[in-house]
Amino acid sequence: MCGIIGFAGNTEAVPILLDGLERLEYRGYDSAGVAVASPEGRLQVKKCKGRLGVLREALAAQKPLTGQVGIGHTRWATHGEPNDVNAHPHVSQSGKLAVVHNGIIENYMEIKQSLLHKGVVFASDTDTEVIVQLLEYYYKKSSNLMDAVYEVLNRIKGAYAMGILCSDFPEQLIAVRKDAPLLIGYGADGNYIASDVTALLAHTRTVTYMEDDEVAVVTADHVQILGRDGCFLEKEKHQIQWDVSAAEKGGYAHFMLKEIMEQPEAVRRTIQPRLADGEIVFEELEDERDLMKGISRIYLVACGSAYHVGMIGKYALERLLGIPVEACLASEFRYSGPLLGESALVIVISQSGETLDSMAALREAKRRGSKVLSIVNVMGSSIARESDHVLYTWAGPEIAVATTKAYTTQTVLLLMLGVYLARRLDRIGNGEYQEIVRELHGLHERIGMVLKNLELYQKTAARYFNHDSVFYIGRNQDYALGMEGSLKLKEISYIHSESYAAGELKHGTISLIEPGTLVVALAVYEPLVEKMRSNIVEVRSRGAEVVAVTTEENRDMIGSQASEVFVIPKVHTLLQPVLGVVPLQLFAYYIALNRGCDIDKPRNLAKSVTVE
Ligand code: M6R
Repeated sequence: MCGIIGFAGNTEAVPILLDGLERLEYRGYDSAGVAVASPEGRLQVKKCKGRLGVLREALAAQKPLTGQVGIGHTRWATHGEPNDVNAHPHVSQSGKLAVVHNGIIENYMEIKQSLLHKGVVFASDTDTEVIVQLLEYYYKKSSNLMDAVYEVLNRIKGAYAMGILCSDFPEQLIAVRKDAPLLIGYGADGNYIASDVTALLAHTRTVTYMEDDEVAVVTADHVQILGRDGCFLEKEKHQIQWDVSAAEKGGYAHFMLKEIMEQPEAVRRTIQPRLADGEIVFEELEDERDLMKGISRIYLVACGSAYHVGMIGKYALERLLGIPVEACLASEFRYSGPLLGESALVIVISQSGETLDSMAALREAKRRGSKVLSIVNVMGSSIARESDHVLYTWAGPEIAVATTKAYTTQTVLLLMLGVYLARRLDRIGNGEYQEIVRELHGLHERIGMVLKNLELYQKTAARYFNHDSVFYIGRNQDYALGMEGSLKLKEISYIHSESYAAGELKHGTISLIEPGTLVVALAVYEPLVEKMRSNIVEVRSRGAEVVAVTTEENRDMIGSQASEVFVIPKVHTLLQPVLGVVPLQLFAYYIALNRGCDIDKPRNLAKSVTVE
């Protein structure tokens, strides 16, 4: 959450900062701001509540901020309401120092109190301002900026990625990170810091990932990275494969729609390199032939949609591997006494690879002796780097806050992993294995077929967009699918929605079903389709309007009970959720469109959740 960009170079900083912030806005969009050091050493700051457009207009209406070194920020508010004063950058009392920050300073109240006693005057309600005022306090004491930075790092507790400007050193910016992402980019016109690689793609694809507790000093020609002890570090440079067009809308009205439509290609990219000579191959696991040796249970740990992928994985992996598999919310995991140790394999699922709760679960698992394998989209992200093994989804950048192609690629990758492990453990018959491999080859085409029905999803959404409450019901992996469909709908359309295991509804919630209530019924999971039919009849007989999702084979049986039916191709039961989710994504998308919602940037949300 929150986006950070910084530039030190040979050209004006403000256009570069604004362009970077535009690409980072999906990380937070409550307010935005920039600070630029003029060559003669004066910090100029502009920050505004609202979207980046407000900042752009404000900058256009005033004398230009000139300078070739600067920092920018787009905010998702934690401490202090979104307003002009609480927007970043925050400036020290003397105006000499400016800071942008992503994360939370947990002990900020205690530090603020002690600074207040020393006469420091605070302007904002944020935890971030504490950093810059404390930095000024130490800087005044020691007259050494780097010493002051280290003093601050020794004092603050919490998670942070920061960019710091000081008017005494107008040619440089300082970057610091702990438990929040930050990377350095090396460009032709200068060097960059950014919380996310998408902010840099227009300028460079050569980056260095900062690790926890590292400090970087960045100028137009030089980048120095130091460890916590102040020693210089030699750090590897990485080449990013994504190109700038992958992070642009390309003619679509929204990133979400673009990313939905990209799913055939994204899923193909996930699957294809892992199929060879009729086998599923994970080169990433080649050195770990004994991954499952001594493993008696698996935890699938994730947040939000990635957790819903874990729910699907629970059903699939338990059946395939014959050991207990639990899907866990990462935010609960470390507080719930999981049975970790060498006999537990922990699989962390995360698009961004930066979700703080998932990261904390990973660390807890490692600390307690479990192996961690992660399924991640963003290369070089923290979760990817700290895992024992990482499987990349290769879905390309996902910009819309509501995940779509990351979800489908995570699902298919997790299912492939389950089948691959089952094959190794000799727990899957050759016939079934070959059938799955065959269907994996053509899965992207099947997704393409589901995407052809846009008109039907549009028409159905136009009919139901005014409902203010929607239930999703399903059984087994369809229940997990319903969870995802429901989340998609509520996060972008703001319609209240709940997802229920279909058999559970009659234990209380069915009392909410009345004439006209909209129920989305998932009847995709073949072994339980008939039981789902009965559940549909139950809600129908209480007056519910039912939109059903089912396979071609069951079109008549289910369609006859529904007001509308979305039909998807039939594939192996295990792979069915990869197709089943697509109509749910589009239904949610078109409902939100009809309601005039800000689809790519829903209220109160941010793409990557790096606070607890
Ligand atoms: O980056 P991650 O996959 O770790 O993110 C996890 C969730 O925050 C994410 O899936 C969230 O639920 C999506 N906005 C849902 O569309």
